[in-house]
Amino acid sequence: MSKIGVIGIGYVGLTTALGFASRGNLVTCIDIDIERIDKLKLGISPIVESGLDELLRSCSLAHSITFQSFFDETIGELDFIILCVPTPQNQDGTADMSSIRSAIHSLSPFLHKQTIIITKSTVPVGSTKIIEELLPPGSMGVVSNPEFLREGSAIHDFLHPDRIVIGSDDRDSAARVAELYCDFQSPIVLTDPATAETIKYVANAFLATKLSFVNAIAALSEAVGANIEHLTTAVGLDKRIGADFLQPGPGWGGSCFPKDTAALIKIAERHGYDFSFLKSVIQINEEQFTRVFNKVAGLLSGSLKSKKIAVWGLTFKAETDDIRDSPALKIVRLLLNSGAHISAFDPTVRSTLKNFEEVDVSSSPIAACEKADLLLVTTEWKTFSEQIPNSIGKQMALRNVVDSRNILDPPKWKQAGFIYRGIGR
Ligand code: UDX
Repeated sequence: MSKIGVIGIGYVGLTTALGFASRGNLVTCIDIDIERIDKLKLGISPIVESGLDELLRSCSLAHSITFQSFFDETIGELDFIILCVPTPQNQDGTADMSSIRSAIHSLSPFLHKQTIIITKSTVPVGSTKIIEELLPPGSMGVVSNPEFLREGSAIHDFLHPDRIVIGSDDRDSAARVAELYCDFQSPIVLTDPATAETIKYVANAFLATKLSFVNAIAALSEAVGANIEHLTTAVGLDKRIGADFLQPGPGWGGSCFPKDTAALIKIAERHGYDFSFLKSVIQINEEQFTRVFNKVAGLLSGSLKSKKIAVWGLTFKAETDDIRDSPALKIVRLLLNSGAHISAFDPTVRSTLKNFEEVDVSSSPIAACEKADLLLVTTEWKTFSEQIPNSIGKQMALRNVVDSRNILDPPKWKQAGFIYRGIGR
């Protein structure tokens, strides 16, 4: 059992804290947001995440997790401190390290020399070194230990990682962090801090590449009359390619891919490499939003002025309440700019969104479709594929559907009189 402090109780911090607490460690969570901490003490999570509420309840009952909004002498008793504070990018592409600086400043007076500092959230290459320089002289080396959590399955991903990356120049520190993961059945990659930091960017850039590739192939499939589902099934059965991350969609988004691909291009640029390949990956993604928009415009014969469009899904993917860099919102913006009226439904969005005040937020999938000229599916929530096409059609002015997630059953919708357009099918 180790005593672990987690600083910054956002999405990564809370998942990490609960993951380690559920594996027999004693975890102290520290966040300067007093309201957030007070809610967590009452068992209220600031994020929607599968399995998180249950884990929060069981760990709180077992006293394996505690929450506080201040730094005190208990810091000196910790074996590890995991930094999960945000490091957003400045305009010039550098990292805003102010939260890191502030956390180090607050904990330093109490820090024990043997405590290992771990950086978990995505930090620009070189951050581990910067953090080391901020620590009091004689402190242990800082260890980079990036996370690869997907929103919606973060707890599962934390407990069953494909790999654990530990980046340190100090063998003892690296060995102690590896020990922390001793009962995880996952391969451990030991490396230096700069490589560990880069691995995170490269993994996300590769996944984004795979998605832009499959979306481009979906466009090709439409042009040549191929079926994207059969195509990705067959191609994905090649073990060298793999079946995951081959689902075409409205484009990729979220809090990581857009930020991390842009950052990697910037990092490359600063080191004299023009990452034109990755720039194309981003460009193909931007084009995908327009491709979906064009499908809508195509079905409504061009002009969208005063047309009513029902949008199912606003989050960047299902099983999350996160709308950051959501492809759904990118497409909604294009539709609004063309004069369309939007009524939207999303299981996790209940009120008007900032910067999207003109979008009517409906209380159900069927309510969103009232008098609509077209239904656009943008997020793959399961409830959408369970809707009955004829009941939906009865609400609508016209029976048009653009399924940008390929989650609806085309024969059923066509049978109910809908003109159906998917992606590459
Ligand atoms: C991602 C990485 O997967 C994770 O390892 C990293 O730590 C953070 O970034 P996340 O942003 O939660 O996780 O979402 P992910 O499930 O990877 O999806 C990213 C985007 O790709 C979403 O917009 C999603 O809808 C889209 N996507 C994903 C597809 O369009 N098709 C797929 O087959 C998979």
